[in-house]
Amino acid sequence: MKKVKKAIIPAAGLGTRFLPATKAMPKEMLPIIDKPTIQYIVEEAVESGIEDIIIVTGKGKRAIEDHFDHAFELEMNLAEKGKIRLLEEVRRSSGVDIHYIRQKEPRGLGHAVWCARRFIGDEPFAVLLGDDIVQSEVPCLKQLIQEYETTGASVIGVQPVPDHETQRYGIIDPKAKQGRLYQVRNFVEKPQPGQAPSNMAIMGRYVLTPDIFRILDLQEEGAGGEIQLTDAIQKLNELEQVYAYHFQGVRYDVGEKLGFILTTLDFALRHQELRGPLLQAMEEFLEKSTLPKVIG
Ligand code: G1P
Repeated sequence: MKKVKKAIIPAAGLGTRFLPATKAMPKEMLPIIDKPTIQYIVEEAVESGIEDIIIVTGKGKRAIEDHFDHAFELEMNLAEKGKIRLLEEVRRSSGVDIHYIRQKEPRGLGHAVWCARRFIGDEPFAVLLGDDIVQSEVPCLKQLIQEYETTGASVIGVQPVPDHETQRYGIIDPKAKQGRLYQVRNFVEKPQPGQAPSNMAIMGRYVLTPDIFRILDLQEEGAGGEIQLTDAIQKLNELEQVYAYHFQGVRYDVGEKLGFILTTLDFALRHQELRGPLLQAMEEFLEKSTLPKVIG
């Protein structure tokens, strides 16, 4: 069985939920504390054994390429000042082999993945979406790769969501379950409210066999007029078994404002230097009888 060594990170989205912040800066560069969200994703891929990453970018995404490049002046400056810990942090973002390709029109996630087909070739590969950050003992993607290695089949990461949120996700219709692994009858992209076959949602981590590309070659537009990866996965599931795996770990939704704020708060509360002062500030804040005025 071929090993999973390559990963695709789609990052061509327009970031409309974070405008105007994302007018001139890619949403993938928005930081959680002091690290851009896309760096968490790259680090998870590397910790899962991925050797080559391709980032599918769009217009105005040059900052991502710069971020993962060597920053000679900055590194020299930090070295001269003896700021070794910061220097190591900065170097961490330039130590992997990252390739870039442009998605010329925003035609959806399925199309973004298809754009990387020549880079992947005839190998199984991973897809990691930047809107989902997962914190877990064993990296989320590694858990899926381990399942791929025992089943030899595509494996999609899922976690439960509240019923009223199912319309925001790709949802599975489970057929059978063994431990945390599901056989799936159907993968449905963004079901209408009340029509979801379960509350197990696709959470932005996929291990796929290259057969998906033959399907994506012909895939038509689905939900939202976009070429949906979920629709192609369902077709693949009709040809060969595609599993869903309920991965372990906490998943953070950094693709929308409230999720982004909650993630920042949660990470700050786990941060050695920030935890104390933040808790104190929050306490003082809550003690005040008047809340700040609503803005925006
Ligand atoms: C995408 C996928 C969807 C998945 C979600 C996870 O949707 O199409 O199946 O559940 O990511 O974040 P998007 O959030 O890009 O609309």
